[in-house]
Amino acid sequence: METLTDPHMAPAGSPTDPFAFAPAGASRNAFEIICQEIIASSELTREKSMSLPSGAYVSPEFMNWEVNEIFRKEWISLGHQSQVSKPGDFVRVDVCGEPLLVTRGKDNEVRVLSRVCRHRGMDLMPKGSSSDHGNQRVVLCPYHLWSYDLSGKLVGVPEMQEAADFDRSEVCLHEYRSEIWEGFIFVKLDPEGPSVAERFGRLKEQFIGKWDLSGAELVWQQHWDCNFNWKILLENFMEAYHHMGAHRETLEPFLPAKGCWTEPYDEDFSVMHLPLRDDMKKEILASGDAGTTMTPFPSLKVEDYTEWWVYLGFPNFLIFNAPDRTYWYRLLPTGPETCSLLTTMLIHPSSKELSEYDSIFKSEVEAAIKFHLEDMEVCGATQQGMRSLAYKRGRLSHLEEPIWHFQKYLASKMAVGTYKT
Ligand code: FES
Ligand SMILES: [Fe+2]
Repeated sequence: METLTDPHMAPAGSPTDPFAFAPAGASRNAFEIICQEIIASSELTREKSMSLPSGAYVSPEFMNWEVNEIFRKEWISLGHQSQVSKPGDFVRVDVCGEPLLVTRGKDNEVRVLSRVCRHRGMDLMPKGSSSDHGNQRVVLCPYHLWSYDLSGKLVGVPEMQEAADFDRSEVCLHEYRSEIWEGFIFVKLDPEGPSVAERFGRLKEQFIGKWDLSGAELVWQQHWDCNFNWKILLENFMEAYHHMGAHRETLEPFLPAKGCWTEPYDEDFSVMHLPLRDDMKKEILASGDAGTTMTPFPSLKVEDYTEWWVYLGFPNFLIFNAPDRTYWYRLLPTGPETCSLLTTMLIHPSSKELSEYDSIFKSEVEAAIKFHLEDMEVCGATQQGMRSLAYKRGRLSHLEEPIWHFQKYLASKMAVGTYKT
């Protein structure tokens, strides 16, 4: 009988606490093993590829590495420009502990500002007492009532007349480097490095550009507080293998897992094609009609109507495209075993002119919630598996090729032997 031990699941610190991690020395060793196994996985051929060690989904040390080396260094998508279409619009979002505010100022500029008050550092919009999005002229710090306009300028300071040499015009909220690319608003907490346009240039030219998503409108969003590691969701998103199981009644009937295929590995992104069922494809090509409930994006050609697509711009720009809608995910870790997920749907604005739009929208949202719930269930249950002593790394199907691509991306972020935390 095999012994149920896992080098990544360090011995528990206390017998009464099954989730406790090992002391620092042992954890460091466990962390290095995780990194080495990810590098080794990335070097396998696709035909020999394997799932990651469980530690990659539960280890606080590994999460810490991801925060420092990925989320604080890479371009992270926070929203779509249609969410802040008018001056005063804002979206409140936290990126790995950084409290951020995406705004459109009076000058019509979109900015990503810090929500840290320049007085004594309070989060200007603490969780629970502020809306995640809205429109307002100023942001008022609830602590001592300093106020800022939506470009970050300090505009109101009560009782500061005796503070010597204090010039409020010199004080403003910290602004992070941001960029709008294909209509999506990205932030980079580390200001160094190439632009989003450079990073995802080939993704746009070869694939995503044909949707012209800068003209899309975000019409639905739902937030999920998830009880699993962010990569569990990312991997689930990027493979269509699970259509035959988890989505057997929702997506599998028209996007069968079997026909899906993946573009060759690219160091900046991964792309999977999800062709429609054969008879549906034939009908579309014969009629030229997309057969969609909403209006297809006008820039698409008839052959584009025959499949759906999933895109991952590394590390976490997630897009699921159909001819008539795009699902964009904002996926952010909130801990080693939790993440925050915003699922959204964007459409071409001309769809809103359809006479049946309201009922179509309602039924599309219901369908979206249904298949997202299916994903939540399998992702939560997979995280449970990561906690088990019986977990062993499994072999991947060719239908899971993007998972192997993502492993290559992770490995590229690890300078061998110097896994900085
Ligand atoms: S900390 Fe914001 S006004 Fe004092
Ligand atoms: Fe799914």
